[in-house]
Amino acid sequence: MEHPIAILDSGVGGLTVAKEVMRQLPLERIIYFGDTLRAPYGPRPSEEVRLFTKQIVSYLLQYDPKMIVIACNTATAAALDEIKAMTDVPVVGVIQPGVRAAIKRSMKGAIGVIGTEGTIKSRSYEQALKRIAPHLQVYSKACPEFVTLVEQGLYRSSKCKPVVERALHEFKQLDIDTLILGCTHYPFLADAISAFLGPEVELISSAEETAREVSTLLYHRGQLASTLEMPVHQFFCSGDPVLFQKIAREWLGDEIQVNPVVWQIP
Ligand code: SIN
Repeated sequence: MEHPIAILDSGVGGLTVAKEVMRQLPLERIIYFGDTLRAPYGPRPSEEVRLFTKQIVSYLLQYDPKMIVIACNTATAAALDEIKAMTDVPVVGVIQPGVRAAIKRSMKGAIGVIGTEGTIKSRSYEQALKRIAPHLQVYSKACPEFVTLVEQGLYRSSKCKPVVERALHEFKQLDIDTLILGCTHYPFLADAISAFLGPEVELISSAEETAREVSTLLYHRGQLASTLEMPVHQFFCSGDPVLFQKIAREWLGDEIQVNPVVWQIP
């Protein structure tokens, strides 16, 4: 059997990355882990996020993946380097791909970044953006309440509009043309965010660019799937499998079979 691509997140947010990997690499098999029991990671100390991420990667390594995607910005900011040091399997995070996409798209050089408390406090986006383009104006803000809405499956409810407007009102005053959704949960709220900020602000989800990086790496390593059979993906979560399945089905579409297996964290 083909070696899978392992994708992990604190919960359902990484499904935004999984969906894009499935679209760009339809022959690749994915094993997905959402730590729904312990989400959100954003408010947790970075040592704890590192510990949880290492625990999940150790679990996923038993499935012999050919690549690991940390589809969680908080975990990427806290643990990417340690995870890379832990295994020979190539590891991809979501921050650098998002940074590249934002720089490519922003014409004004004024970029907003929203993420969890952990991601924003780490200043990972700001540093990565300025490392490439020091002239950029970067405005960052933590929007922790967005993750809760998504994890509760409320991303299509009327609750989103006031939460989004309250959290993002400062960005209306700023002359940004690009907003990085620096949390993989936020694309679930993209319609509400776009409706509030208007068409002149382009939203960047790192999902698309991360999938492109996975595709490029697999190609250069000679590891693209060698079979033409459509893969059967596997989903694991640590919390309520019924809620996970509902959200995953809504997001990925009915053609993807989602029968999540619960991993009881030791
Ligand atoms: C969270 O668990 O708080 C959000 C995950 C992310 O940062 O992408």
